[in-house]
Amino acid sequence: MRMHKETGLTFDDVLLVPKRSSIRSRSVVDTSTLLVPGIRMAIPIISSNMDTVTESSMAIAMAHEGGIGIVHRFLSIQQQADLVQKVKRFEGFIVENPICVSPQLSIEEAGQRMDDAGIGGLMVVDDKKHLLGIVTTRDILLAPDRLKSVETVMKSQSQVIVASEDEPFEEARLKLHLHRIEKLPVVDGDNRVVGLITAQDVIKFHKHPLATKDTKGRLRVGVAIGVREEDIKRAKTCVDAGADVLVVDVAHGHSDHTIRMVEKLKKSFPDEPVIAGNVATPEGVRDLANAGASAVKVGVGSGSICITRVVTGFGVPQLTVVAECAVVGHSMGIPIIADGGIRTSGDITKALAAGASSVMLGSLLAGTDESPGAAVMRGGKRYKIVRGMASLTANVDRKSLDRHDELEDEEWGEIIPEGVEAIVPYRGNVADILHQLLGGLRSGMSYAGSKTIRELWKNAEFIRITDAGRKESGVHDVNVL
Ligand code: XMP
Repeated sequence: MRMHKETGLTFDDVLLVPKRSSIRSRSVVDTSTLLVPGIRMAIPIISSNMDTVTESSMAIAMAHEGGIGIVHRFLSIQQQADLVQKVKRFEGFIVENPICVSPQLSIEEAGQRMDDAGIGGLMVVDDKKHLLGIVTTRDILLAPDRLKSVETVMKSQSQVIVASEDEPFEEARLKLHLHRIEKLPVVDGDNRVVGLITAQDVIKFHKHPLATKDTKGRLRVGVAIGVREEDIKRAKTCVDAGADVLVVDVAHGHSDHTIRMVEKLKKSFPDEPVIAGNVATPEGVRDLANAGASAVKVGVGSGSICITRVVTGFGVPQLTVVAECAVVGHSMGIPIIADGGIRTSGDITKALAAGASSVMLGSLLAGTDESPGAAVMRGGKRYKIVRGMASLTANVDRKSLDRHDELEDEEWGEIIPEGVEAIVPYRGNVADILHQLLGGLRSGMSYAGSKTIRELWKNAEFIRITDAGRKESGVHDVNVL
């Protein structure tokens, strides 16, 4: 037995000491950061890979606002890849491999295909993918006979304006404008469809100036991966669907199987950044980085829905984790992601000040419109459900998914949960929440006299506080209206 030399601290144990500042307005503060080397985000916020937090709607909203979402892995490989594809197709200057159909497809079926994919038009092609025309929702809705074939209602090739593979953004915009059209198929030299530019995407391209995008203008998205053999297939399918980053997510990430998984992934996908975690020690960061991780997620048992510390006795208070891990992370050029336990914008500022490059949020985002699941009513108020990925029901669902069958009653009792199911207040949309959090962070950075997160790392000075100091820090001695 050995006692750790330091006392572990977390967010409520400290405050940041205000510093002389030359920052006159919060708007000059730059919150941009590296997710991994090579991928910059305008805001240092990631939505957690929990099944009550991140699927495609959350990932789209997060990327729009300048962060990123990590799609959870508690679904089939194909379902996860489909969610990735939804994000990648959502916008982008050029949609790659747009959905194409044969001219003989019935109008009815074409309508169904559009509904399923959530899109408003299909490319009509021959069996070698040569463009024959376009059919849109409008053509389908106005068709008198939905059993007829698509070719009877499509706009034929002679009427379709096309773009080339290397069409500059401005020219595409001009074509859409001048011809008053919604869709611009992208064709190669042989008139084969290779992409699609839509008016909606061009408009959206300007609507979210901070969006986290890849080199093709598509929103970025990450996927969570486990450490089993089949997770290599999961990774490949998701990378093929366009995932920008793989997140090896294990409760105890400082383990041989996680390290081996990171090595395997780097071997199989040398160009794909891999984030690994979770760990709670500098040694954990070093071992995962040496295995090839581009960034490391830190935090064990700090999450709002976690009971790991209660059930196992293990964990380290989160601010200490971040500060200690960041020392190694910074020296190795590995961004640290502070995952779990963030409740306020003040906590975000503290996590970054302690050395994190970004934070991962779970329950703070679980109450939004964009998280999976519907809102529930309790006592006349709206709530959404959030559950730990090691909670009883999440374990049951995962096991049922693995063996394509429901669990027997007695098998429920064999599970040792390390998370809980809970409700959080409904909070509206992600953009509004992020606006509040970012406003607080910007103010916080200006109190530290720091225009950038790097400066915050340098300037931050923490002071430990007592119970009396904590009491003084909240609203006190008044009745809040
Ligand atoms: P917050 O506090 O943002 O934390 O809701 C989200 C993070 O909590 C982790 N997580 C778990 N940890 N048991 C745990 O010990 C669980 O069941 C569980 N589910 C999620 C995870 O790191 C997430 O990002």
